[in-house]
Amino acid sequence: MPQTIDVNLRSLTGARAEIYPGADVGLRTAAAGKNTFYIETFGCQMNVHDSEKVAGVLLGRGYRQVESPDAAQVVFYNTCSIREKAAQKVFSRLGDFKTRQNEGRIIGVLGCVAQQEGEEIFERAPWVGLVCGSASYRKLPELLAELESGNRRVMGLDKDTGETFETEITRRDNPFRAYLTIIEGCDKSCAYCVVPYTRGPERSRASASILEEVRRLADAGYSEIQLLGQTVNSYRDPSTRRMSFAELLAAVAGVAGIRRVRFTTSHPRDFGADIVAAMDAVPEICDHVHLPVQSGSTRVLRAMQRTYTREEYLEKIALIRAARRPISLTSDIIVGFPGETDRDFEETLSLLDVAQYDSTFSFQFSPRPNTPALRMPDAVPEEEKGRRLAVLQQRQREIQTARNQTRVGQTFEVHVDGASRKAGQWAGRTSSNHILNFTSPRTGLLGEYVQVQVTRAGPNSLVGEHNV
Ligand code: 5AD
Ligand code: SF4
Repeated sequence: MPQTIDVNLRSLTGARAEIYPGADVGLRTAAAGKNTFYIETFGCQMNVHDSEKVAGVLLGRGYRQVESPDAAQVVFYNTCSIREKAAQKVFSRLGDFKTRQNEGRIIGVLGCVAQQEGEEIFERAPWVGLVCGSASYRKLPELLAELESGNRRVMGLDKDTGETFETEITRRDNPFRAYLTIIEGCDKSCAYCVVPYTRGPERSRASASILEEVRRLADAGYSEIQLLGQTVNSYRDPSTRRMSFAELLAAVAGVAGIRRVRFTTSHPRDFGADIVAAMDAVPEICDHVHLPVQSGSTRVLRAMQRTYTREEYLEKIALIRAARRPISLTSDIIVGFPGETDRDFEETLSLLDVAQYDSTFSFQFSPRPNTPALRMPDAVPEEEKGRRLAVLQQRQREIQTARNQTRVGQTFEVHVDGASRKAGQWAGRTSSNHILNFTSPRTGLLGEYVQVQVTRAGPNSLVGEHNV
């Protein structure tokens, strides 16, 4: 059904920087243009949150954030290299500065492309001054100090630091949902993926430190927390408390003032019944699990080194479907992995029917440097990958349309995070992470939790009315 409601979301307003008690930051007042920074982020939620922390480090040094690279003295790109297209974007951005090398600006490349390409970035774009991978962000203040004292090129490319990136200030860009990384890096070795290479091995943050941050966030007014990790449910408390991930979820949800707890991304291998039991017991844990399957064919899963079979994955789904409340399930899928036959692809399609996902992110396989899949035989031609992707997306669209139709007439609690320019139109998310656009006679709903009845449904969102 076409969406007729026009919700032009205003950009999220009122971004907040929390200066935590005890943080000795001594902010200087920056003169216009001087000590200003601009940061653009590509890629996953972890990168988005890393940028919030990087911005915090800069704010702590007296820098001020500006909205355009032209107005900034320091321009940072926090980059993604998960697929080739994402990685190319940063070089096109860097190209914009080629002819403006003498403007005294510092250009920095952060994140996964920085880690992947290292010094070569200086060769491809000699006007870049800083290259720093995510495992070295703790060094950022030092690197910045070197730049400020006139050093032209600085680099942070450690991988095995064993450190997590904690900052005294985090400039949180989303005023409604606070992101919090509980585990960095990845110890799995999926054959297609650069993450273990670019983000290094898994490092979990101590549970007490996580809970302390959640309490501060609740005090600062956040009611929704999203716990982040490439494999968030592989969390292992490094402290003597040895809290399991399921226990941690419940503990975060138990902090006074917290109404919603989300977590992403879960790896099927480490997804156990204890997580579902925690969801059953604790209503603040949201009705949503993102559980990427990647392929519906056991043969391809094996080649991908995903460490589970189709049947084992379906058993995990059965656990989730047996929960006391309906839990929305979402997934990531790759089509055209080397050696994927028509029959393998058919198995992915049939898995969509069984799994009944509420949404999926689907991608054509993209060969990446430093990954085992780069040299695997039987590459699927680009055109065929494109065809499979279109077929898969169409099938999933039908599933979502049908699933969303069943929600018409139901009432959901919505956390309001957007307002349209048109009076009376709002947007928010249900606990199941569905976007719900709705009308309300009330004003000032941003950040509120309201009950909304669904009146219409499309494949990607719901439309409703606020029950006042
Ligand atoms: N090609 C295509 N998709 C990929 N992903 C990760 N690496 C690749 C790749 N080389 C997808 C996976 C993962 C999501 C974040 O990106 O589906 O879950
Ligand atoms: Fe990449 Fe696999 Fe780790 Fe996910 S679990 S980050 S896909 S290696």
